[in-house]
Amino acid sequence: MTKVYDCQPTLTDSQVFSFCRDGYLMLEGVVPNEINQKTNEFIEQNGHRPLLEEDWFIEQIFLNSEVVGVIRSLLGANFALPIKLPNHRAKCPLPSQSWHRDGGSRYGCELNHLQVFYYPQDTPAELGPTEVLPGSHFLFSLGSWMGHYEAIRGSVLTSAPAGSIYITAYSIWHRRGVSTATGIRNMLKYIYWRTTPPEHDWIKEPDFNHRPPANFTMPSVQQQHRNWYDAAEMYYWLCGSKEKLEAMVGDKEWPPGYPVPHWTPENYHNF
Ligand SMILES: [Fe+2]
Repeated sequence: MTKVYDCQPTLTDSQVFSFCRDGYLMLEGVVPNEINQKTNEFIEQNGHRPLLEEDWFIEQIFLNSEVVGVIRSLLGANFALPIKLPNHRAKCPLPSQSWHRDGGSRYGCELNHLQVFYYPQDTPAELGPTEVLPGSHFLFSLGSWMGHYEAIRGSVLTSAPAGSIYITAYSIWHRRGVSTATGIRNMLKYIYWRTTPPEHDWIKEPDFNHRPPANFTMPSVQQQHRNWYDAAEMYYWLCGSKEKLEAMVGDKEWPPGYPVPHWTPENYHNF
């Protein structure tokens, strides 16, 4: 049975917008060390699957106080708690994985799921942390093509201390980084999802400016303008008011600065 949870949202307008732009957000060292150790020991003794039934794990990881406010901001009230828990256990050293997005990814402004990763141990570059490509959650590519890319400019290595949790849009491009150290790297992955319609109920900033600032940093993989429109479209979808995007941002004005065609089959001969 699906279990849902509710709490106060903790992200501001700017932070929600940044998530829309980047497609990921890192929370470093939010799980206490004794819980990280307990998780590692539990996995060694019992495997990772029974963790789904452990109250202490649900309380400290799925319902971690630093995490739930972020999930609540992005997925709305009464979001659903994870029901699966794969462990991406790596016996290092290993070469990097191929770039990919996970199966069934969709591309667009709707944010109905969040894919979350938990490192129960220190995960420096030597242990092959996940590499993500900011902004790529909007970018379609055939999996068979993506797998041929090697280093991509603008990618980010999620090296982080034990107890770090990072939150991603499901369709973000990612891969396990190359590892050079010898040892085991555990990394647990799980998904929360939305059960209520999107609504602008996170922390409002009265002076939040939805227009791109002059110093808006573009994810390197996207084309000029398109990246910001995509982020704005997701932001307004999350606000539950996509029509505002048209009114305030003019997303139908395309190419930017040109009039919006407004012909219909009935009136076209009048122009
Ligand atoms: Fe993956």
